[in-house]
Amino acid sequence: MIGGGEELDSERIISSTEHFEDRDTEGLRPSRLKEYIGQSVVKENLIVFIHAAQNRGEALDHVLLYGPPGLGKTTLANIIAAEMGVSIRTTSGPAIERPGDLAALLTSLEPNDVLFIDEIHRLSRTAEEILYSAMEDNCLDIMIGKGPSARSVRLSLAPFTLIGATTRAGQLTSPLRDRFGVISRLEFYTTEELLEIVFRASRILKVELSSDGAEEIAKRSRGTPRVANRLLKRVRDYAQFWGDKIIDINVASKALDKLEVDPVGLDSLDKKILLTIIQKYDGGPVGLETLAATVGEEAETLEDVVEPFLLQQGFIQRTPRGRVVTGQVYTHLGITTPQVQDNTLFTDSD
Ligand code: ADE
Repeated sequence: MIGGGEELDSERIISSTEHFEDRDTEGLRPSRLKEYIGQSVVKENLIVFIHAAQNRGEALDHVLLYGPPGLGKTTLANIIAAEMGVSIRTTSGPAIERPGDLAALLTSLEPNDVLFIDEIHRLSRTAEEILYSAMEDNCLDIMIGKGPSARSVRLSLAPFTLIGATTRAGQLTSPLRDRFGVISRLEFYTTEELLEIVFRASRILKVELSSDGAEEIAKRSRGTPRVANRLLKRVRDYAQFWGDKIIDINVASKALDKLEVDPVGLDSLDKKILLTIIQKYDGGPVGLETLAATVGEEAETLEDVVEPFLLQQGFIQRTPRGRVVTGQVYTHLGITTPQVQDNTLFTDSD
């Protein structure tokens, strides 16, 4: 239930998610499904659901997009709205401070519009409860007045599509998760898909890029378009600085080395984490909180941003007792694998 007298602070709650991520993909985001590379399973399903909803003249069912950062959840939300031919309003879980913020957003939607809530796992419980009836029955319960004269009024809402995005589907409560009709997990991109993305971005940015140059950037992009676009922009800066007209494998490798991105895409933070586990915790297991404190990062950043790629690449494993590095890390970093100590050398008889 929402108290009366709340005002919509639109500057604060709308579009507040458009932070750093836009810098990396500025002007590079595809705006329609046909331009969107990768995530073929998600895309094929969406095409069907969008067409079916459009043919019925209805709003698309609510969509939950989850997966590691930078894989295109915000881009897809915008594309869905464009394909449906409706407007999108964008906000994020932490930006909705009061239930009234959410009520004001919901009541401002036109029929079949999209409301996009990024980081939906960070929505307060009271805001989340408002969403239940909004998602299920298109209505909103609000309280008018205070004290003994307070009364409850039920407002009906225009049919709408909620698109929620999260890096942590497991943190959503089941009542909220169950109200999404479409739940899609975004996967890391293959090098071939990233290659296409890098070429597409180079055409938009009017950067001359050779095939081997593009491949070098794609291979070092951690399976993530946002990283690929960012690396392309930084490599372009180096090429310009060095007076290179074309980005080939030599220019790309030299620039990416300067950016401390290694041949498989590990950056300085990845390496710091892997080396910390090896040097301070004998290769693990080490708990997430302890590891985060040792490297001076938030546990949430490690879990949401750094770990998914390291897990996917088989560099670390999660065990019940904490994180462990795999043998592959020793080979990759050129570190000798520790030998099991031979205790027979130091017996009591010595
Ligand atoms: N730029 C960022 N993500 C993209 C994608 N999936 N397809 C095309 N261009 C992109």
